[in-house]
Amino acid sequence: MMQYAIGLDNVPDKAKIDGPITQNYYLVNGKLKQWEGEMHEVYSPIQIVTVEGIGPRFLGSYPMLSEREALEALDAALNAYDQGTGFWPTLSVSARIEHMENFVDRMKKKQELIVNLLMWEIGKSFADSTKEFMRSVEYIEDTIEALKELDSESSKFVKADGIMGQIRRAPLGVVLCMGPFNYPLNETFTTLIPALIMGNTVVFKPPKLGVLLLSPLLEVFRDSFPPGVINTVYGAGSTIITPLMQSGKIDVLAFIGTSKVSDVIRKQHPKPHRLRCVLGLDAKNPGIILPDADLQAAVQECILGTLSFNGQRCTALKVLFVHESIADKFIELMSAAIAGLGKGLPWQDKVMVTPLPEPEKPSYLTELIKDAEKLGARVCNENGGTIEGNLVYPALVYPVTSEMRLYKEEQFGPIIPIIPYQDIAEPIDYLIESEYGQQVSVFGQDPDTMAKLIDPLVNQVCRFNMNSQCQRGPDVFPFTGRKDSAEGTLSVLDALRAFSIRTLVAAKESELNQAIIADIVNGKKSSFLSVP
Ligand code: G3H
Repeated sequence: MMQYAIGLDNVPDKAKIDGPITQNYYLVNGKLKQWEGEMHEVYSPIQIVTVEGIGPRFLGSYPMLSEREALEALDAALNAYDQGTGFWPTLSVSARIEHMENFVDRMKKKQELIVNLLMWEIGKSFADSTKEFMRSVEYIEDTIEALKELDSESSKFVKADGIMGQIRRAPLGVVLCMGPFNYPLNETFTTLIPALIMGNTVVFKPPKLGVLLLSPLLEVFRDSFPPGVINTVYGAGSTIITPLMQSGKIDVLAFIGTSKVSDVIRKQHPKPHRLRCVLGLDAKNPGIILPDADLQAAVQECILGTLSFNGQRCTALKVLFVHESIADKFIELMSAAIAGLGKGLPWQDKVMVTPLPEPEKPSYLTELIKDAEKLGARVCNENGGTIEGNLVYPALVYPVTSEMRLYKEEQFGPIIPIIPYQDIAEPIDYLIESEYGQQVSVFGQDPDTMAKLIDPLVNQVCRFNMNSQCQRGPDVFPFTGRKDSAEGTLSVLDALRAFSIRTLVAAKESELNQAIIADIVNGKKSSFLSVP
């Protein structure tokens, strides 16, 4: 029997879910509308043992909508926005915050189910699934606080050259929001939540995997926001996203995924200059291990950086440059660390290596290893690259050279390519020539060497991590990238800016204008021109 398959009776209580979940509805215009058409079946990456044998668990199904329903969702969002005159975009900031507070309070009650679905649907460990849920809740709470501050700052009147003005941030329109499968809740919310709270209306398409886990939130969305403010669509991109974009009525594309797909989507807009894009895209973040690095500490961070959620993070360390003088020792320590990692099912204690959610991923990763082996590299750690069900045992591949696919391709999985270098110019050139520009991690102890690397590298990437793995968090830090890695900057505060535009009321400082403004403000006659 496979080591990583389990009978449903043996699943611990904390990870049990009733199923299958039939989500035969979608959220449109404030209603969970019944769907009787084609459904997509969802299978877990976790293998279960039944009387019929071993196979992936059937988790449920969700709708495969057609162009008609996609356009229905768009219409609902357009009506709710109503050219900026709708209830939601003209509502006061404090009232929008109340809706969001209501949403997050109700969302918290769904924690157990959502965490379990994260484990079953995308194979994320219990600890990381819980972290993803909590981080999303905190993101919403921090967003609310940031908006309160921003709003109080913007309520001050500015005076210059005899003109007084109140400058605030206003919504942009209809946002098409598409999140990734690796953080289907958290990363999706880092665009969805700021888009909503700034007064935009949203058409939201969940990622290809991790759809059912959002299902418990549909009624929470429905009950927390006015009709049409948030609508969901499901199905093939070519069927539902293409008509949305071709309509020319999407004002903002919030997309986290590959640059290839984002290019296809944005080009479908008939007036690209009208489309604002907020994009989180590809990356191949290198770790650079200098000859004087504290190897124990570097290995610890490199394990986290390369293998957290099996390397399926856009911020993962996807290639390690190790100085040739320490390569053998580094590989020995990394191999030992990998051997000690917990492997198995997501709810098991201290587990780190879990089944991969993309069914085709193990064979893709095997291809990458074979390609490297053919060109002279080898897998250095015991059992590296072996596959059981959909679980791939982490593989240290060494020495990787520029001819190999692993040198450039974003593997997004538990394969660790190691490139030995002699001269520090080699990893620097790698970054300069790379198509990506998200982050880098540098491990070393000498301040002079570190300083010499900081200055050239901050102009290649958008975060230099010193003796620390690459990561997005904490969410108050700016998260962005150069080249094919991102467009726009996200952090709690930056996201509020990304989904809004500054607009102002200005008036020459005449007695009449002062009297009008005083009357409007004192009488609370405008949501925009107001003070708290
Ligand atoms: O996939 C990219 C995620 O934003 C990673 O977030 O680096 O903070 O774990 P993190």
